[in-house]
Amino acid sequence: MTDLSITVNGMKFENPFLLGSGPPGTNGKVIARSYDLGWGGMVCKTFSLDASKVINTAPRYAKLRGRTSDEVIGFQNIELISDRPYQDWLDDLRQLKKQYPHKILIASIMEECRKEAWQQIVREVQETGVDGFELNLSCPHGMPERKMGMAVGENPDLVEEVARWVKEVARIPVWAKMTPNVGNPTVPAGAALKGGADGIAMINTILSVCGIDLKTLRPMPTVEGYSVPGGYSGQAVRPIALRQIMEVARANPGVEISGLGGIETGYDAAQFFLLGASTVQVCTGAMLRGYEIITELKDELSKFMVDHKFANLREFIGKSLPFFSTHHDLVDRQKSARDAKRGGAQPQRARRRDLEGRHRQRDQHAGHQLVLRPALTSSPGAAAVALAAAHA
Ligand SMILES: Cc1cc2nc3c(=O)[nH]c(=O)nc-3n(C[C@H](O)[C@H](O)[C@H](O)COP(=O)(O)O)c2cc1C
Repeated sequence: MTDLSITVNGMKFENPFLLGSGPPGTNGKVIARSYDLGWGGMVCKTFSLDASKVINTAPRYAKLRGRTSDEVIGFQNIELISDRPYQDWLDDLRQLKKQYPHKILIASIMEECRKEAWQQIVREVQETGVDGFELNLSCPHGMPERKMGMAVGENPDLVEEVARWVKEVARIPVWAKMTPNVGNPTVPAGAALKGGADGIAMINTILSVCGIDLKTLRPMPTVEGYSVPGGYSGQAVRPIALRQIMEVARANPGVEISGLGGIETGYDAAQFFLLGASTVQVCTGAMLRGYEIITELKDELSKFMVDHKFANLREFIGKSLPFFSTHHDLVDRQKSARDAKRGGAQPQRARRRDLEGRHRQRDQHAGHQLVLRPALTSSPGAAAVALAAAHA
């Protein structure tokens, strides 16, 4: 029997699949429907204190399709946060918690970079009974012009400051949702944790230009002939999300990460857990394939767990992290493996010692302090044993 339940920052999820912030969680009615279908939790569409400043365009989506099929590979949006009145959100959240006390409801919030504004929204929203907050520090379009979203998320000092303001008044867990539009994702994520965030959600969308219409020569999505770079999501972004989550998980062992970016199957989700996520979120996948995919997601993840004899999620969260190394280590491993094939194990050990000595010299020469990680110190044989043990 596989157990898909998990407790994260004190929140008990019946399964680790949440709908990610966006159109799937646009009001109380659709959120209730997602709970009825079996989603373990929901991060609602981001809202702020004053919806009157939010003006969306139509169209606001563009799709990148496969060359040989109609399949949507990538999805771009220039949608802003919710334009529904703040009071409507408070009513919906209160009602949902009454109706579904055991389903996890996370409020995605965004505010101008002022302490009073962030603390007001946190104080008022937590009165509705929601289980946690996700701070949208990452929307890449529209909001940065107002110094919100990614304008905060790409600046580690602001990230730390906002997290600290929120944590001063929050009585429930707080996740910081990070932007992938930075070189080193560990820096802003580290700042959020330093400011007191309880967990990290990543990734939000990647800045993109989805394409140019070759008839009109105008960029897409085209609004009155013009466009702006938008946020890219869907299966095309999954490898980028996995890389960034891997980096943040390695830099912050034990920190809870809610992973998202291109998850459309339970097997996609399994990869996020293997790289350190403890819950996963789905946004574009549910927009394209419907809320009903939750049944498939759960079945596929359970099947993966049965195949590997994992009884619960914590048994394999982060399991693939030790198998990232450096490029020169890969070269060494490959050479050792070839030598072993040719000449047996005894000379290989000597050669390994020799190589480690040479690397130490080279790294010192390059001014690096040599950090021996488990993956670097063990032989390819040991890695194989570890891998076998991981699957035992
Ligand atoms: C149309 C659309 C609207 C979105 N709106 C929000 C939002 O309001 N707040 C937010 O934090 N993320 C928003 N996102 C980002 C998603 O929550 C998610 O981080 C991103 O799309 C990557 O995951 P996915 O590939 O599963 O969609 C939106 C995404 C899409 C496609």
